[in-house]
Amino acid sequence: MKHVLLIGFMGSGKSTVGRLVAERFLLPFVDLDDRITASADKSISEIFAREGEEGFRSRERSALEALADEPASVVACGGGVVTSDANRATLRELGSVVYLRVSAGEALARIGDTSSRPLLAGPGAPLAATSLLAAREALYTAVADEVVDTENRTAEEVARLVIDSLGAIGDLR
Ligand code: S3P
Repeated sequence: MKHVLLIGFMGSGKSTVGRLVAERFLLPFVDLDDRITASADKSISEIFAREGEEGFRSRERSALEALADEPASVVACGGGVVTSDANRATLRELGSVVYLRVSAGEALARIGDTSSRPLLAGPGAPLAATSLLAAREALYTAVADEVVDTENRTAEEVARLVIDSLGAIGDLR
């Protein structure tokens, strides 16, 4: 069994759902953003401020690649992990990819204070969320083995659907 990788927009519930799925499979839970902030010893906002988005993406790529040498886990990926061709190829190699779909409106409502998300910080958040999601939707779908709609569902309900969908994938590629 390989990793279970949860992808999707900010606010789609990857971390909350990931913890529940990991518990169910008795697997470790990995939050890729936490890995990045721990190894940089900086917050996501600090990394963006000091190194730009490019610096953050390079750290994100390294954190993703490192999973290849680790035992199976359930991984919550950052929302932008799919923006690189290389990352999408790596995701497919690492295991089963499940896309948690959410609308821009619900994502913003769930996030609330967007100040810790540099790409959604400030008054332009609604427009930024809509355009980023529109640009990424096809990338999420292209790399996913399964798509789970999270709209108007609790984290427990979404976790159940993820677990069911993993059964449908078979023995977790
Ligand atoms: C990002 C999503 C964030 C974090 C960073 C960039 C993105 O993770 O990696 O702020 O580009 O969508 P979450 O999806 O966990 O919020």
